[in-house]
Amino acid sequence: MAIHYKDLGLVNTKVVFQMAMEGGYAVPAYNFNNMEQLQAVIAGCVETDSPVILQVSRGARKYANQTMLRYMAMGAVQMMKEMGADIPIAVHLDHGDGYEVCVDCIENGFSSVMIDGSHLSYEENVALTRKVVDYARQFDVSVEGELGVLAGIEEDVEAEESTYTHPEEVEDFTKRTDVDSLAISIGTSHGAFKFKVKPGEEPPPLRFDILEEVEKRLPGFAIVLHGASSVVPEYIEMINRYGGNMEGAVGVSEDQLRRAARSAVCKVNIDSDCRLAITAAVRKVFAEQPEVFDPRKYLGPGRDELTKLVRHKNEVVLGSAGHGREIMAAINS
Ligand code: G3H
Ligand code: 13P
Ligand code: ZN
Repeated sequence: MAIHYKDLGLVNTKVVFQMAMEGGYAVPAYNFNNMEQLQAVIAGCVETDSPVILQVSRGARKYANQTMLRYMAMGAVQMMKEMGADIPIAVHLDHGDGYEVCVDCIENGFSSVMIDGSHLSYEENVALTRKVVDYARQFDVSVEGELGVLAGIEEDVEAEESTYTHPEEVEDFTKRTDVDSLAISIGTSHGAFKFKVKPGEEPPPLRFDILEEVEKRLPGFAIVLHGASSVVPEYIEMINRYGGNMEGAVGVSEDQLRRAARSAVCKVNIDSDCRLAITAAVRKVFAEQPEVFDPRKYLGPGRDELTKLVRHKNEVVLGSAGHGREIMAAINS
């Protein structure tokens, strides 16, 4: 049976992005696949009074089960309220690759979907995105489109090289598709190995010139940054110290992300950093306490580390902290 996101206590991204744009900050979009990740993201966002987008990839849907996800989202809203908070929570399909998966998510209570036609030809991308928007509009669900291809692994699609967004396409694309937000490619990539740099070398800067050109052409329009994990060096160091091997892992510096968050970038996607936080903490427990076999004894510290990371991102990197309640007040007014 179909369910609408409002019945789950969720919000779409419309007012959230408007206020992020006006306030010069970005809303975090954290991927989750299991209970501990969800609890940590909610706890970190409640503690910092931050709006949050909970992202579900196609892989996550397969892993966690569609029905389970629906109740997890409902549980997340309830938990947030029981913690005495009132923050906007959106549930978003990450990298939807076709019309059917978007429809399925909308019918299962998602408040936002991404239709990623970035690997298609321009005209095919326009047509598919428009079709999803036409369906989503009937239910007041937000839609994110994408122009330009990020290097790295996006679900099952692996791109060796990134193709930067062509700013001259963005007006036509947003006008013809009527999307609510647009993901662009300015040099970030998915995963924990974003740049090939020699030890001690700085990764190349993001292409802020492209972002600025897009902003000029689409004033006030919400831009999305994928592949935006910092690949926190402390976690890489911890993982390597406690038996892992992630030599050469590198991400986007916090300074670059702060600069992006102050611009038209209203949504910043973070998955890899969340994985690293949990893995680092779990590895530490396994290395230091080999007798532990109760999952709560290692997933608990993993959850705590992720909560800490979420607080840090919201407060120090994205600037979304302190804006949750005011957005909810605007939505309810
Ligand atoms: O864009 C990719 C996200 O990090 C999701 O990754 O497909 O392994 O869940 P996943
Ligand atoms: P990271 O791999 O940098 O965390 O990016 C995640 C992402 O873009 C999900 O859509
Ligand atoms: Zn992505």
